[in-house]
Amino acid sequence: MLRIPPARVVFPPSLRRRALAMIDEALATGELTLGRRTAQLEEEFARRHGVDHAVAVSSGTAALEIILRCLGVAGHEVLVPANTFFATAAAVVHAGGQPRLADVDPATFALSVATVEAALTDQTAGVVMVHIGGMVSPGAKAIADLCRDRQLFLVEDAAHAHGASAGGQPAGSFGVASAFSFYPTKVLTAGEGGIILTSHEGLRDEARIYRDQGKSGFHGGDHVRMGAAWRMSELHAAVALAHLSCLDEFLASRNAVAEIYDAGLAGMDGIAAVAPPPGCESNYYKYPALLRPGVDRAAFKARVRDRAVGLAGEVYAVPLHCQPVFAGLPHADLGVAEDVCRRHVCLPVHSDMTEEEAMFVLTALTAALEAAPSHWAPEAPPAPNEVAS
Ligand SMILES: Cc1ncc(COP(=O)(O)O)c(C=O)c1O
Repeated sequence: MLRIPPARVVFPPSLRRRALAMIDEALATGELTLGRRTAQLEEEFARRHGVDHAVAVSSGTAALEIILRCLGVAGHEVLVPANTFFATAAAVVHAGGQPRLADVDPATFALSVATVEAALTDQTAGVVMVHIGGMVSPGAKAIADLCRDRQLFLVEDAAHAHGASAGGQPAGSFGVASAFSFYPTKVLTAGEGGIILTSHEGLRDEARIYRDQGKSGFHGGDHVRMGAAWRMSELHAAVALAHLSCLDEFLASRNAVAEIYDAGLAGMDGIAAVAPPPGCESNYYKYPALLRPGVDRAAFKARVRDRAVGLAGEVYAVPLHCQPVFAGLPHADLGVAEDVCRRHVCLPVHSDMTEEEAMFVLTALTAALEAAPSHWAPEAPPAPNEVAS
């Protein structure tokens, strides 16, 4: 009997052997941090995303904080979408800035020119755009233009978006710098880790200083910045390099799963795919779908789970202003973010998922929808600051 977990880490034996050979070499030589594998990862990851430089670090969160410190956000306001992971806004706070939450476009779950303009204030120094679920908004270029015209910086939180693109332009190449994560659930993983992309040599050099305790050089020198132990080890770089060599293969198989889901959901009542707009090549880190208003998401997920399918985690179930630690954050009107946070689910997508498994997921969804009460009614709009289910 099939069982589909919400996420699956894919490391086939040949890939494990490749990673282990590099790890063995690092252990034998004693080159354990900031060595040749880190440099190789930086070179290959930057090239794959059409950006000049990369700085590998200990996590996606560190990547964001380093970028924001390099940009000098201390004392300034930074726009962040409301429907993102804790770390996007937390990195602004850790770097001394003040997050201000903006609403999103329902078609992409991402910031748009309109939602950025609606949230800007005289105090805003820059914008962090998040490629939610691995979908890069076709509006990313227009947001970059807006930021340039208003002398704001644009940073991409590309934690979800390895290998994704919009209009042929890769994730990570729209802003002054971008942050990717190698956390285990991501399309590419190193166990833990992150990477900064930038085409600005000065930002790259500053980021290198920050990641290594703020030291002016690897082999010593003065501590010139308030950095931290944000290095990536050679062992993690080896694992990331092995995974990176499979990125195209992973994207192809995730796209094939998405096509099966697109076709299946088109014939279902009560759930609708959030399809990437034309020109947008998602990496399908997540496959989001919106439940009809009034559907009880927790009950629906439980019914799907009863059929041996684990839906992936939402992106995100609770908007940031409803997280206790962020209560009181300044924000624009967040009606769309609140609605999508409340109503979406994410279908499981694995980099090695078979057609049979994807069909099994669709069967479970159909059964769960059929088992739903027939009196589902439109839901009242969320009250301000109400925690989404
Ligand atoms: C949108 C977003 N930003 C930042 C991060 C932080 O990445 P990490 O867990 O590698 O620190 C994550 C991780 O899940 C994320 O989803």
